[in-house]
Amino acid sequence: MTPIPILLDCDPGHDDAIALLLALASPEVELRGVTTVAGNQTLEKTTANALRVLELMGREDVEVAAGADRPLVREPFVAAYVHGETGLDGSDLRPARGAPVAQHAVDFLAERVAGITLVATGPLTNVALLLARHEERPERIVLMGGAIAEGNVTPAAEFNVWADPEAAKRVFAGGLDLTMVGLDVTHKALVRAEHKERLRAAGRVGRTVAELLDFYDRFHREVYGFDGSPIHDAVALAYAFRPDLLETRELNVEVDTTSDLCRGRTVVDVWRRTGREANARVAVGINSSAFVELLVERIGSL
Ligand code: RIB
Ligand code: CA
Repeated sequence: MTPIPILLDCDPGHDDAIALLLALASPEVELRGVTTVAGNQTLEKTTANALRVLELMGREDVEVAAGADRPLVREPFVAAYVHGETGLDGSDLRPARGAPVAQHAVDFLAERVAGITLVATGPLTNVALLLARHEERPERIVLMGGAIAEGNVTPAAEFNVWADPEAAKRVFAGGLDLTMVGLDVTHKALVRAEHKERLRAAGRVGRTVAELLDFYDRFHREVYGFDGSPIHDAVALAYAFRPDLLETRELNVEVDTTSDLCRGRTVVDVWRRTGREANARVAVGINSSAFVELLVERIGSL
């Protein structure tokens, strides 16, 4: 089996960190690098968090490049209410010892994306800048973001798209092989207490992930009444090497950048009412048990 070459553009964040660990734990994946973007926390913190996770795994060989420290035009907004002041609250991860490479993430991506699956799990600022500033294109993009009929940061919009809707609009208009993994499926695949306790008992990394989930669960219990947490970004990463986990449909997706009420809404033409060309493969269903079992088994193996 030839591993799938992947670049991960992320804003760690609890679920980004778990997606990164899943990539490192999966022989189907060859992780070619990590780029970071402001989102869940400031760029400084998301970059440090990516380094912290790689150092936990002894994978300092995987380069990290820092990217955009703010959205293209919108004001920065961090989700400390979900991920805490560090962006990875609840963990005992040591402070980062290393540093990102000097190269900006957008140039780092441009030099490496040929033939690559780019998994984007944060606001799409770096990806939009790649498309605007460089000719090079990834073979495909799998992004965690948007929703057909859900919202989390507002009733109308998902955080990654809401945080930088102009960037998302640019990416959806990019004519690329694009898969959108939105809240409609991630909210259906919760890591619950029994899964968390299996992780806690599995070993050093499993214990760290369980501690991260102890913190991350709080938001989902208080806001949604969930008895567990959606690991949004890990669903997108898993799809990159296990496409069987998701049911998808080729649909048109447009991003609302003009409305205040519906800022960042992904308008998904499910019933093809607009006549607009399909521009994305949209996840409409998930094999929740298979995804969660894959995640627990892989993370538990570390
Ligand atoms: O809306 C969920 C997404 O926004 C996830 O990627 C989470 O990490 C945040 O970036
Ligand atoms: Ca994220």
